[in-house]
Amino acid sequence: GSHILSVNQLDLDSIQTIFNVAQKMTPYALREKRTRVLDGAILGNLFFEPSTRTRVSFSCAFDLLGGRVAETVGMANSSLSKGESLYDTARVLSSYSDVIAMRHPQSFSVKEFAEGSRVPVINGGDGANEHPTQALLDLFTIKKELNSNGMTIDGMHIAMVGDLKYGRTVHSLSRLLCMYKNITFTLISPKELAMPDYVIDDIENAGHRVTITDQLEGNLHQADILYLTRIQEERFPSQEEADKYRGKFRLNSAIYTKNCKSNTVIMHPLPRDSRSQANELDNDLNNNPSLAIFRQADNGLLIRMALFALTLGVADQLEQYECPVNW
Ligand code: CP
Repeated sequence: GSHILSVNQLDLDSIQTIFNVAQKMTPYALREKRTRVLDGAILGNLFFEPSTRTRVSFSCAFDLLGGRVAETVGMANSSLSKGESLYDTARVLSSYSDVIAMRHPQSFSVKEFAEGSRVPVINGGDGANEHPTQALLDLFTIKKELNSNGMTIDGMHIAMVGDLKYGRTVHSLSRLLCMYKNITFTLISPKELAMPDYVIDDIENAGHRVTITDQLEGNLHQADILYLTRIQEERFPSQEEADKYRGKFRLNSAIYTKNCKSNTVIMHPLPRDSRSQANELDNDLNNNPSLAIFRQADNGLLIRMALFALTLGVADQLEQYECPVNW
């Protein structure tokens, strides 16, 4: 029944519990079975920043467990635009719902909101700080993909590429990986968009190896996982500043074949920027079996169903509330 604000709240046992429940969600996510375990419960889905996957998968996850999703509230149509505080907003909205999922452009805003909330709050991304549910679905995906390749997270080599400064998904994922053993990190970004020192300190304190470079080619040969990110334009002081980095690191089929092992798993939290000047992950890899980006997004539904079931204390009652699939 507590908030999920940061990956720092998790440990290996709680992660394993979440993954076990996520796996149990598969038949419900695939609509092979149906459960109404959250019948009568209401989700407040508060997205004060654009989102496709996180917003919709939180909403569908709740629906698939039999709950109801309140109208999605955004910045433009909420009274935050009239100067209302996050605290007051939380006090009010939390008496209308049983759990709240929230995204907001400022770091630590979701934590501030949670302080005013009477119900559990799940962080769907707070500025450049964290995106804990994305990190969980990324870790779940890494585990499954490596398992198919006969490998484990312990001992793996991961290359993270792109905007490592503003990319909150790599901040959260790196901290989760600190709980594992003997990982090699290759961090590839323009110097100005390097991984923050406080994340690198965590990685090094966990005993992992780190290489930092601004060159993509020549640095991918050992990677088991290649995790690409978009230049987070919306976090830059100006568009002009963001434009400097457009198209800096691009992965396409030719570069992949030349630089990677044949089974290097390609990941990206999405959205990828498909505009020709940016285009960090080319469509010519769409049919490559190692491209895991859509499996990642699919796993997001399972992880978010698991988080709702665990947070609301119904994870062991799914079967008890099964009903016919009748549409
Ligand atoms: N990966 C992710 O957070 O996607 P959205 O911004 O579309 O939710």
